[in-house]
Amino acid sequence: MKENLLLSISSSSGIEAVTKRELFDLGYAPSPAVNGRINLEGGPGDVARCNLCLATAGRVLIIIGSFKAETFDELFEGAASLDFENYIPKDGEIIVSANSVKSKLFARSSIQAIAKKAIVSRLAKKYNLNSLPESGERYRIEVNIQSDAATIYLDTSGEGLHKRGYRDLASPAPLKETLAAALVLLSGRNNTRPLADVFCGSGTIPIEAARIASGIPPGLNRKFDFLEWKDYPRKIFDDIKAESLSKINYNIETHIAGYDIDEKQIKLAMRHAKNAGVDKLIHLQRRDMREFSSKIPRGAIISNPPYGERLSDEKEVAALAKDLKKFGTGFRTGASLF
Ligand SMILES: C[S@@+](CC[C@H](N)C(=O)[O-])C[C@H]1O[C@@H](n2cnc3c(N)ncnc32)[C@H](O)[C@@H]1O
Repeated sequence: MKENLLLSISSSSGIEAVTKRELFDLGYAPSPAVNGRINLEGGPGDVARCNLCLATAGRVLIIIGSFKAETFDELFEGAASLDFENYIPKDGEIIVSANSVKSKLFARSSIQAIAKKAIVSRLAKKYNLNSLPESGERYRIEVNIQSDAATIYLDTSGEGLHKRGYRDLASPAPLKETLAAALVLLSGRNNTRPLADVFCGSGTIPIEAARIASGIPPGLNRKFDFLEWKDYPRKIFDDIKAESLSKINYNIETHIAGYDIDEKQIKLAMRHAKNAGVDKLIHLQRRDMREFSSKIPRGAIISNPPYGERLSDEKEVAALAKDLKKFGTGFRTGASLF
């Protein structure tokens, strides 16, 4: 892998500022967020650190290059001019995805096909082969065309970073782990301030809060594509992981609770909390939100209430909204922060 890379961190709409704050806290000088992407200069160690340690990022990508692409010829020529041989070995499996916004080229499947053709022809020439076997590790390439400017990325993460690995069973309307972490970070709570999620479902918000409080790296229990690549210096990752592990504090005094009216959800939340290594840091209990009370004067409630279509009917949601007012809070449907 090249030593000098331009990295691009993707973040969901609305939480880019939180991801940028995380990057500052890790010691980076990130660019402003544009179209859900934050760029920074780095090397193989930063690929590891960003994948392992960012709680709110979607993916960590390497920018291979950018060029104007108003026609398919320009797309082919532009892609074929980039140094893919510095990233992809001769047996790499190449998977291309495409996205286009406000551009003359908009048919995703054609963009994908032309970009792949250009990459394959470049690599075949460089490796002196008639065709590529694609029998090795996976290399996911993303072609993003915005206002006729194409940028080509190599995805180092593989599956989106919200997939932490602890939520192994499905639940009706789970919140993305990255969004739950963003809500916790946005609330500005310090790690020992009491926190309750009165609609905890499968436990995502309390689990993310407990992992943040104890310093568990968000990517600890998952795989990353870059770790499968033969030219990635594995020791760099192992050292960064060891350094992150040494900072975990399982003995931190947390006051984090999750409640749900549905016993099945509480059992699921317990399972996920155990998988996530924070079952000892969270109190989980079946309880109707209407029965919630706390003697603690300065706690925070962060919840993702049931909302219309997917979980309950509108009447029920409206009644819950009314009951929520007893907490002296505002109420918005969807993911809400109190
Ligand atoms: C949108 S889901 C929460 C999903 C959760 N954030 C997650 O990641 O799994 C809303 C939850 O509210 C629960 N719920 C509905 N009415 C409730 C009530 N009156 N009191 C407590 N929980 C309730 C549902 O059982 C459901 O699990």
